[in-house]
Amino acid sequence: MSVIDAAIQYVHDLFENNAGGHDAEHTMRVYRNALQIARKEPGCDLEIVALSALLHDTDDYKLFNTQNNANARAFLEGQGVAPDRIEQICRTVNAVSFSKNRGKRPETIEGKIVQDADRLDAIGAVGIARTFAYGGEHGRSLDASIQHFHDKLLLLRDEMNTDAAKELADKRHTFLLMFLKEYEEETK
Ligand code: NI
Repeated sequence: MSVIDAAIQYVHDLFENNAGGHDAEHTMRVYRNALQIARKEPGCDLEIVALSALLHDTDDYKLFNTQNNANARAFLEGQGVAPDRIEQICRTVNAVSFSKNRGKRPETIEGKIVQDADRLDAIGAVGIARTFAYGGEHGRSLDASIQHFHDKLLLLRDEMNTDAAKELADKRHTFLLMFLKEYEEETK
């Protein structure tokens, strides 16, 4: 089994008991988004992009009580990945995390790609579905979830790092606006 296939298996096992927005399905969508963006960025290291996308939430503080990327490190060490590659993947994952960076952009192309891939999953049809799933879980009203579109989701298009992601975000952003317009008409 390749290290990529092993990582896919690993995240499915790890997230098995975690429902909600940050689960194995989210990780797989981010992984696919990342590969799609990476195809248009010939200078990037594809394996770093793929593994960072797959492991980007395995040490999320909201889900796992780990320090220093312990889950990702244990997995990569178990796969015999070289120590400098492990460091590179952990640095990429940490650069993507909003909480660890307070809005600072990742410096490497691999970090930019994975951050864009993660943000793309917050908009478009998937973004709408995730927002209401999260709202339901936390007892939020529909109108409160709609407010989240205005406070956060509509800002994401202009925060994309790469041109490929900007293009993908544009389509998803337009869909958000269509949805909001329709919602407003039906509820006024
Ligand atoms: Ni994520």
